[in-house]
Amino acid sequence: MKMQFFIPCDAGALAVGAEEVADAVREAAHARKLEAEIVRTGSRGLYWLEPMVEVATPSGRIAYGPVAQDRAESIVDAALTGATHPLRLGATDDIPWLKRQTRLTFARCGIVDPRSLEDYRRHGGYKGLERAFALGAQGTIEEIAQSGLRGRGGAGFPTGIKWRTVAQTDASQKYIVCNADEGDSGTFADRMIMEGDPFVVIEGMTIAAVAVGASKGYVYIRSEYPHAIAAMKAAIETARRGAVLGRRIADSSYTFDIEVRVGAGAYVCGEETSLLESIEGKRAVVRAKPPLPAHKGLFGRPTVINNVLSFASAPIILEKGAASYRDFGIGKSRGTMPIQLAGNVKYGGLFETAFGLTLGELVDDIGGGSTSGRPVRAVQVGGPLGAYFPRALFDTPFDYEAFAARDGLIGHGGVVVFDDTVDMAKQARFAMEFCAIESCGKCTPCRIGSTRGVEVIDRIVSDTERTANLAILEDLCNTMKFGSLCALGGFTPYPVMSALTHFPEDFGAAPRRLQAAE
Ligand SMILES: Cc1cc2nc3c(=O)[nH]c(=O)nc-3n(C[C@H](O)[C@H](O)[C@H](O)COP(=O)(O)O)c2cc1C
Ligand code: SF4
Repeated sequence: MKMQFFIPCDAGALAVGAEEVADAVREAAHARKLEAEIVRTGSRGLYWLEPMVEVATPSGRIAYGPVAQDRAESIVDAALTGATHPLRLGATDDIPWLKRQTRLTFARCGIVDPRSLEDYRRHGGYKGLERAFALGAQGTIEEIAQSGLRGRGGAGFPTGIKWRTVAQTDASQKYIVCNADEGDSGTFADRMIMEGDPFVVIEGMTIAAVAVGASKGYVYIRSEYPHAIAAMKAAIETARRGAVLGRRIADSSYTFDIEVRVGAGAYVCGEETSLLESIEGKRAVVRAKPPLPAHKGLFGRPTVINNVLSFASAPIILEKGAASYRDFGIGKSRGTMPIQLAGNVKYGGLFETAFGLTLGELVDDIGGGSTSGRPVRAVQVGGPLGAYFPRALFDTPFDYEAFAARDGLIGHGGVVVFDDTVDMAKQARFAMEFCAIESCGKCTPCRIGSTRGVEVIDRIVSDTERTANLAILEDLCNTMKFGSLCALGGFTPYPVMSALTHFPEDFGAAPRRLQAAE
């Protein structure tokens, strides 16, 4: 009998020993003269259970986790005999944390072999592209527009409108650019899907190419993601061999190919125009808009630039139809969002769900509160430019407009949890300092304002002319908000002002709250 084990080769799982566990399972199977196949998958996204080992059985996969190297032998024995095991989690699909999700974008992640185009096809891959061929360019754009999909990179701009703009711009050459810079704190969804299901990103980019008439694409991946870079490069090679990239893809009249470009290592490289500069081999400095990248983007040509998750959502929308995607969600936030729970949270990982859950449900119920066991005090949503939310705002539904109404943003779906030991004045200072370090330097409010902002916060915390400096900080934040060229300078005031507004007690001369707690 041949046994099949599934062990992630995702960077998050590797970081906690998945490679050693895979070796140990292989050795244990060999020692027992078992015929065993070890499939290296992506992660299911339940990171507190990594390395998670799954075993195929006639009734579906059975999961064990978190598995240390020295437990591999006993797990192989348990899998062989069906005996109970302390790390047995039961049927993977019945694990409540997975069962509660609606996995559309991440439907295959953790299940398929990310290196196998056949496995991708077996699990529904390339059905979306087939439908895009059948619908043609205009029909495909209409489908994406009707689905209500909004960009998952941060700004939440309607993807259909972006594609339509590029389609309607005349040019002999157009480009598709996938933004995989993933710089937001606490986010890892782009990395996870590139490592766990890279063909869905390739298929999504190809659908975009068909929609707008582009023949060349680039995936810009941050240099800190070596596994994702390797996974995407390998998948692109395989896709070329499988004739789903290159000339006359899948026997159609379309030509489309993709190259990987490695990021230059700055947060601002994720901003779309500086990313385009970086691909062109220049320093990543933000471009003034207009012109929009949709009109004059990469090498001055019309360019679709979307986040990894936006592209990865296109295949399922095309396959199942716009209405089936649109049915999920609330208000103008349609479909599902791969939410990433991180920081001081008990159950950290990727939770894909329809828009609409409240922040409190996400943090307390799904996230299980803090890992430290102390009360959760603040949550930063949407990366380093996102606002800090106190418990009083935990009734905010995960929805673009609801967050904006409370001076926050959803961004790329990162939720970073802090317990009651956090010093919010330090967090506010960190936000300003981050902006000062990462500023591209093109505009004054951001370049100079962020450095002055750090100094002002220091004066407030040390009680130097506190009232006057509070007024200066507010004034400075408004200048940055309304006078910056891009959202790095323009949104840094959100974490700063939210910390000050919701946690004023932390901005005193001494950390009063912490003293009181001791
Ligand atoms: C400072 C800064 C950093 C950004 N970093 C990223 C990033 O890492 N990934 C991303 O997809 N979008 C990032 N964005 C947003 C992009 O500029 C752009 O809106 C996005 O790539 C468009 O794709 P979407 O419509 O699919 O979201 C960043 C924006 C700013 C201002
Ligand atoms: S806001 Fe900052 S990062 Fe953005 S263009 Fe201005 S200086 Fe550059």
